[in-house]
Amino acid sequence: MVMQESKYIYTFTYDETESDLCKLESRNIFTVEEQNRLVFSDKKVEPSSSAFIKSRIDVISSSEDYSNLLDQIKNESISIDDFKVEYIKLKGDNTRYPERLEKLREFGIIIKGLSDYINPTTVFALCHYDGRWYFGTQIKDKVEWHKHKDKPHSYSNSIGITIGKSLVNIASQGDTSKTLIDTCSGVGTIMLEACFAGYEIEGCEINWRICRNARANITHFGYDAFVHRIDIKHMKKRFDAAIIDLPYNLVSSVTESDVLHIISSVSKISDRLVIVSTADITNLIKEVGFYVADTCSISKKGKGKFTRIIWVCKKL
Ligand SMILES: C[S@@+](CC[C@H](N)C(=O)[O-])C[C@H]1O[C@@H](n2cnc3c(N)ncnc32)[C@H](O)[C@@H]1O
Repeated sequence: MVMQESKYIYTFTYDETESDLCKLESRNIFTVEEQNRLVFSDKKVEPSSSAFIKSRIDVISSSEDYSNLLDQIKNESISIDDFKVEYIKLKGDNTRYPERLEKLREFGIIIKGLSDYINPTTVFALCHYDGRWYFGTQIKDKVEWHKHKDKPHSYSNSIGITIGKSLVNIASQGDTSKTLIDTCSGVGTIMLEACFAGYEIEGCEINWRICRNARANITHFGYDAFVHRIDIKHMKKRFDAAIIDLPYNLVSSVTESDVLHIISSVSKISDRLVIVSTADITNLIKEVGFYVADTCSISKKGKGKFTRIIWVCKKL
């Protein structure tokens, strides 16, 4: 991890069943895996675009020496109202509570302006990691995207919001300028997360009733994204990345040739595919001229052997 020079520190939250997905997401956004629920990076990402990023600290200054950092921040002459300073206790930081409070007080008094501990508009963060002190502004995930849980139309084959958000990040590599297609959109779970994060995304759904529900879900939240009611084989437009949540044998019977038909059609409209399957599809990926650049398996909580596999595929 490149630490001292990094502009941003990301803190992560996830439970153990989500660890592999979080690591896959962080490899694809930041090119490094999160370690100790932390990533140091120069890449700027909105915390709310990921289900795993808890906060981003925009580093103002850092130093191995605490007094030196305090002096550096004094020299910044920060003047702002309605601020708060929080201490973020990272892994390996053994600073005790009274000392943490004292440090918060020391930073609080060098910032000119009125503090607001209840509804601050700016939250500063102080933390210590691997022998170095960091001070910066903190941007937290406001979990506003949880509203999507109450979408008007759901579907038994829908993917969870957490995975949906990750698929968007993995496909786009965290770059909101990338164009995306959700090739088997179902009721639009993935599309809602892409719209929320500011992506240009289109969807495709073969079933007219499910397609209508996807459109209604998107409109319900005021987003602007189109869902085509077609078989993906008819899509001609190209996209920077495609997300394929493959149909599986839960409510419909799906054959290997159906799956090959979908992957092969999508391989003609994008050079980067992020596929979700319930079975090993390595041979199908090869057959359409792609290779597996990254992968992970996710087991559903409390669902025994039901496992989804995510395949990040690039054109050979
Ligand atoms: C696993 S579901 C997707 C669920 C979706 N991610 C969601 O969260 O609602 C797969 C969807 O692919 C659609 N589908 C199957 N074959 C298709 C094809 N050839 N072109 C477009 N959509 C297709 C199915 O109707 C089904 O809704």
